[in-house]
Amino acid sequence: MRLGVLTSGGDCPGLNAVIRAVVRKVERHLNGTVIGFRDGYLGVMEDRYEVLTIDRCRGILPRGGTILGTSRHQPYAHPGGVDKVRATMVRRGLDGLVVIGGNGSLGAARDLHTDGVAVVGVPKTIDNDLGATEVTFGFDTAVATATEAIDRLHTTAESHDRVMLVEVMGRHVGHIATWSGIAGGASMILVPEEPFDIDEVCDTLRRRHDQGRFASIVVVAEGAVPVEGSFALPDPGVDQFGHQRLGGIAHLLAPEIEARTGFETKVVVLGYLQRGGSPTAADRVLASRFGIAAAEAAADHEWGTMVAIRAGKVVRVPLVEAVAEPKVVAADIHDVGKVFFA
Ligand code: F6P
Repeated sequence: MRLGVLTSGGDCPGLNAVIRAVVRKVERHLNGTVIGFRDGYLGVMEDRYEVLTIDRCRGILPRGGTILGTSRHQPYAHPGGVDKVRATMVRRGLDGLVVIGGNGSLGAARDLHTDGVAVVGVPKTIDNDLGATEVTFGFDTAVATATEAIDRLHTTAESHDRVMLVEVMGRHVGHIATWSGIAGGASMILVPEEPFDIDEVCDTLRRRHDQGRFASIVVVAEGAVPVEGSFALPDPGVDQFGHQRLGGIAHLLAPEIEARTGFETKVVVLGYLQRGGSPTAADRVLASRFGIAAAEAAADHEWGTMVAIRAGKVVRVPLVEAVAEPKVVAADIHDVGKVFFA
């Protein structure tokens, strides 16, 4: 078997663990070869690749990022992109492609399958917003990174009696905010799934202040939104790939909170720290399981499927189903955080 592998979309810790697992399974157990395309789908369209061997993958398990590079380019957004993908696969004699990506990249993989291209998907994103899998690799590491940052911010917020707004990533869902907010002991967690009322936020902060337990840490998901009409947000615009620009909500909230409560309010935007660094043990194991399962699905010619984790088991789900609905934060886990709001 000859397989191509590519990493597409936002990077995250664990990508190299997937690559390493695919290569090990294919080379050692399936008597095949793997080539890795550079910079996501762009490398496939431009036929830029490197041969991946077990030796080439030595030492990459704990490394964040992706040795192949990534991009947000999609074949359907490039004139003749799909034909270029097909031509590269024929030229390289590939049986199929393993696409490691999030919603956008796996949506393109779904369409490639519909158009007759042999693909298998691996769910990747720190956002954990892919509906067909209980968790994506990258998420656990992002939560660990955000939690460590929140732990650090408690001591400085307490020393100055300040409100600290900590903005985390997650696009249009609040998994990172909810999990790191609970783990980090946040006083409040603002997520896209539950629009916030600025008056209620300020009342909660005042109650904490009145109870003498000040130094509030408020974790704000970058996609958090105010209750309609309660707080004006500027038009965010879209990036070159058509994604709504996110980030900056905490900087808009801070002056408003300070003006209404009189409490000194500071902002920390964790940004790309959540995408960097070495994957946690949990992410290394999950990524390795996904990589092996993807190679096995390819060997079984189960094209058009994505590997996923459900009830602790790795399963295969149709790509069509995998990217249908984003996974939002379940009310019961968000309610856990609410127990600790003042
Ligand atoms: O999807 C992962 C993610 O980190 C989101 O949480 C974030 O909004 C986005 O990517 C940032 O995209 P970029 O890396 O293109 O700035």
